Amino acid sequence: MFKQVLAGVGAGALLLGLTACGGGDDSGDGGSGDGLVVGFAQVGAESAWRTANSESVKSAAEADDRIAELKFVDGQQEQEKQIEAIRNFITQQVDVIVLAPVVETGWTDVLQEAEDAGIPVVLADRGVEAADEDLYVTRLGSDFAEEGRKAGAWAVETFADDPDGTRILELQGTTGSAPANDRKSGFFEVLDAEGLNYELVDSQSGNFTAEEGKAVMETFITTHGLEGIDLLYAHNDEMGLGAIQAIEEAGFKPGEDIQIIIVDGSKAGFQAGVDGKLNYIVECNPVFGEQLMDVVVDVANGESMEKFTPVEEGVFDSTQFEAELPNRQF
Ligand code: AHR
Repeated sequence: MFKQVLAGVGAGALLLGLTACGGGDDSGDGGSGDGLVVGFAQVGAESAWRTANSESVKSAAEADDRIAELKFVDGQQEQEKQIEAIRNFITQQVDVIVLAPVVETGWTDVLQEAEDAGIPVVLADRGVEAADEDLYVTRLGSDFAEEGRKAGAWAVETFADDPDGTRILELQGTTGSAPANDRKSGFFEVLDAEGLNYELVDSQSGNFTAEEGKAVMETFITTHGLEGIDLLYAHNDEMGLGAIQAIEEAGFKPGEDIQIIIVDGSKAGFQAGVDGKLNYIVECNPVFGEQLMDVVVDVANGESMEKFTPVEEGVFDSTQFEAELPNRQF
């Protein structure tokens, strides 16, 4: 069987491959007789999580005889690039489009174009705003609000008896992205519901990268100092790890002078936990490539689907970091 995974090609370059890529027909499997052609518009390569997610999807497509080809486009964290990729997938008449949308809004037009072309869209990882829900078939990924609630529950448990109130810094993910919006709302929903006495001292975006997380933490330290700050809530590992560097460079002990929660659970994140530099990890699982291929095939076959399928995820405190570290896949 002809099998090809195009990794890292620019959206424009995909047009050049039009004749070689094949496309959909009306056969029973929703694609050509040799399997499905799938276009995947990925967010970027901003984190270990994202790299693991791309590898999981690519290797699952490669190993799956039902998939003839995966056209992979790295959107470099830019919505315009993802929209261009989707338009190229439509031109190429792929069988199914998979989109991991960098932000939640601004997708209506291009999703409508896919629908008009008769190409079903599956969301992987992140979601889009509710108004666009009719324009995709299903989403497979994390329940980001639940991740925020898990982080909030640990904060309540840890700081409930603090008589002075809990002073919090927050490093948000990419502005307008589903995980940034939902991890924030889920976290504060629990703090408010449980009546924790807290103050959000500052909250800014570090765009899910270590570099920007470190820079924002440096600004936090310059602006507020770290004395009297109890908790840093970082929406992903990279930003948390960047912040840890900034905290150490300022002469403080991360994990002791300030408690830290991160979301993802990469090897590097767990290692920082083993080293005593952070206190709680909420898992976000990127390894869902095989599950995604099942969804893609079902969608191409017109099967009815739940609107959202969450992937399984856990939480880890300092008593679990060492034992869990060898199990981490990314
Ligand atoms: O959408 C999932 C988030 O995106 C991960 O938590 C983060 O590391 C990535 O950049």
